[in-house]
Amino acid sequence: MNILWDIDPAARERYQMALGADAQQLTSVALVGRALQDNHDISQVVIGPDVDLAQACTLAESVRVDRPSLGVILLRHRLDVTAMAQALRSGIREVVAADDQTALADAVRRSRDLSAKLAGHVTSGQANEGKVITVFSAKGGVGKTTLSTNLATHLASSGLRTLLIDLDLAFGDVAISLQLLPTSSVHDAVVMSGHLDEQGLKSLVTHHGASGLDVVAAPPDPSDADRIPVNVVTELIRVARGYYDYIIVDTPPSFTEGVLAACDVSNLLVLIATLDIPAVKNLRIALDTLDMLGNPRDSRVIVLNRADAKVGLRAEDVVSAIKQPIAVSIPNSTNVPASINRGVAIVLDEPKHPVSVAIRELGDVQIRQRFNGHIDQPETRRGRALFGGSRR
Ligand SMILES: Nc1ncnc2c1ncn2[C@@H]1O[C@H](COP(=O)(O)OP(=O)(O)OP(=O)(O)O)[C@@H](O)[C@H]1O
Ligand SMILES: [Mg+2]
Repeated sequence: MNILWDIDPAARERYQMALGADAQQLTSVALVGRALQDNHDISQVVIGPDVDLAQACTLAESVRVDRPSLGVILLRHRLDVTAMAQALRSGIREVVAADDQTALADAVRRSRDLSAKLAGHVTSGQANEGKVITVFSAKGGVGKTTLSTNLATHLASSGLRTLLIDLDLAFGDVAISLQLLPTSSVHDAVVMSGHLDEQGLKSLVTHHGASGLDVVAAPPDPSDADRIPVNVVTELIRVARGYYDYIIVDTPPSFTEGVLAACDVSNLLVLIATLDIPAVKNLRIALDTLDMLGNPRDSRVIVLNRADAKVGLRAEDVVSAIKQPIAVSIPNSTNVPASINRGVAIVLDEPKHPVSVAIRELGDVQIRQRFNGHIDQPETRRGRALFGGSRR
């Protein structure tokens, strides 16, 4: 059931199409609070455009912990970025223009689906499955870990439940790149093989407080890499899909069994090219291998990293060699290794840096828009981790 909190008596009729005929209108925060206490069937609260932003945020803040499955959607006469960021930080799921009925209907539907999932009532399963995005390159050192950690951090800090799995099982450095101190790793999934459940998954993740990202780290001992059967990897991804919106997979620079399994279940492969002949050659081979394995071409995007490096090879040369367009170009910058050495994601630390802008473009246009048909929220540090607890 949906609640509309609006002081305008005509509001219920105006938004009826989006909210459903059984939506109930309430005119004050006190009435909304009481209704939420009395009626546990309320799954969405839509807050009208004239309600004070601070009051709306206070309500969202209070329910996000006590009742995380409750969706709060905010209507505004004008979508201004500061107000949107404040709203999303407080836990409001979406901010929609008051005169856009279609956008409101879409937001309500998405929020309802998410509420059902959070409340554990998903019945169809498939429709709400998390999207798996594998970041791969057959050549080492091209920026897979940089890209996967920053991409995952961006998605998580946008309020999406995001898990980053480090499948570079022998030499994974996701944890160190984010200054995490994991107490568990993919290797701990081995003993749970065949019966990995929510609790098991929870025990495997390390939480990144700054973004809300959850991470399954690579084993600390490289020799454990060989003791992780491929079915453990597929089970981990399959189970994680039920709990996260996005699962980003970082990989080693070769088609290991685990990488092939991840590619197999991925909704999107992000393949990295750089401006050097061996990297382009290896990308060409990787693309041919993926073709041979029946991987659909439209589920791949090419990212050119260090795209402006002056090394004699141009982006056009890469495109003509691989015969595929470049979706996103990430510039070369010493701020990238500097951010890794500080253990912070550049997208969070320097959001205006051209590298961060490019990575956000990948996340928002190539990923969120691809899978949702739109970008539902601006970037914000909302922190909706599954297993990390409260807002940071
Ligand atoms: N856009 C960039 N500008 C400058 N340096 C970059 C950029 N992207 C990555 N680097 C640097 O390149 C190095 C390799 O990056 P990264 O570890 O992400 O690559 P990788 O593909 O994961 O490597 P491996 O195959 O060893 O796992 C790092 O020192 C990183 O800081
Ligand atoms: Mg790496």
